[in-house]
Amino acid sequence: MAEELHVVKTGTPGLDEMFAINGFRRNMSVLVSGEPGAGKSIVAMQYIYNGARLYGEGGVLVTSEQSIEKVREIGKSLGMDFQQFEESGLVTIMKIPIAMGAEMTPDSLLNAIKDPSVQRIAIDSLTPFEFLAPSEKEFRVKILSFVETVAKHDVTMLVTAEKKKTDFESVEFSAEDFLFDGLILMGRLRSAAGFERVLSIIKMRGTAHSEELRPIKITNTGLVVENIE
Ligand SMILES: Nc1ncnc2c1ncn2[C@@H]1O[C@H](COP(=O)(O)OP(=O)(O)OP(=O)(O)O)[C@@H](O)[C@H]1O
Ligand SMILES: [Mg+2]
Repeated sequence: MAEELHVVKTGTPGLDEMFAINGFRRNMSVLVSGEPGAGKSIVAMQYIYNGARLYGEGGVLVTSEQSIEKVREIGKSLGMDFQQFEESGLVTIMKIPIAMGAEMTPDSLLNAIKDPSVQRIAIDSLTPFEFLAPSEKEFRVKILSFVETVAKHDVTMLVTAEKKKTDFESVEFSAEDFLFDGLILMGRLRSAAGFERVLSIIKMRGTAHSEELRPIKITNTGLVVENIE
């Protein structure tokens, strides 16, 4: 029972079971990294949407690449009606415009992090901020202080990032991969018929987790992680 308090469910069917504690450890920050079209944004949306729908937890979905309207529309096409939770105040979709000199933590996001009714934050995606950072060093420092701020305010965060190459045999890790408590990699494997979508947990501080490459499926009801047959 006490353990339950320290766990935040991922909102993606099949993903919780890959962690020994059955979800993310509370207050941790998890990076979901992968190639284009891997399903990162869907995982981020499900984290916030199902957090509200299934667990009644307040969440903020931060989009840096798409308009808020587009997020709602894509959500609908995958069976997620964000508007009902936006209207009830449980979910906020926020856009951080990527303009030259944009800060990763504008006041609106800092206020959301400090709001006690917000338990989850998803940022989709981190990649534009990396392009804007004057140097890799400054990018790292910014991320680290951001991750610390989030943990201090009892928020569990999921962040997405692009990875150009997800050859699971020889992944090229980037600066941000080392800064988060958890790292989930999404990509594709060559299969007889073409490609198969897969997901793997690379690290999660403080808990044991599956070491498998699990198949994932995306349909118009969302993304699920499947068991290996
Ligand atoms: N209704 C659906 N049925 C089946 N597959 C779908 C459906 N909707 C989306 N997809 C698949 O999901 C992919 C998009 O997933 P998502 O937007 O989460 O990827 P991403 O990893 O965020 O990509 P990017 O790096 O471009 O942002 C589409 O390219 C498509 O292959
Ligand atoms: Mg995306």
